[in-house]
Amino acid sequence: MSVNGMNVLITGGAGFIGSHLTEEYLANGANKVVVYDDFSTGTMENLEHIKDGRLKIIMDLFLIKMDLTMSFKKRRLTLWIIKQQN
Ligand SMILES: NC(=O)c1ccc[n+]([C@@H]2O[C@H](COP(=O)([O-])OP(=O)(O)OC[C@H]3O[C@@H](n4cnc5c(N)ncnc54)[C@H](O)[C@@H]3O)[C@@H](O)[C@H]2O)c1
Repeated sequence: MSVNGMNVLITGGAGFIGSHLTEEYLANGANKVVVYDDFSTGTMENLEHIKDGRLKIIMDLFLIKMDLTMSFKKRRLTLWIIKQQN
């Protein structure tokens, strides 16, 4: 699959599979790769060797856990909390 010029989001990107996907997408010409991870099992060591300005790592523990695993009701709570923080 060609990812040339695409912006790619990888959830779990600090894990075993996600970090390899990150490398592949960057090597294949992605415009930007955004890694979302709560670092529950993944580590920064899996990504720190990638020196590439197109890689952005987001590790917002609370937001990610709520966004990917919780119910709609709790997602609304997340949005409310984000609003409070801004
Ligand atoms: N050298 C090797 O061959 C090797 C090394 C490690 C693992 N493995 C194998 O790879 C497989 C596991 O790889 P994987 O990549 O699926 O697992 P992983 O645990 O490495 O990656 C999952 C990622 O998702 C993240 N995550 C989990 N819940 C999240 C949430 N709610 N929000 C955001 N991020 C979240 C974790 O922090 C982690 O970074 C297993 O079969 C394992 O045996 C092989």
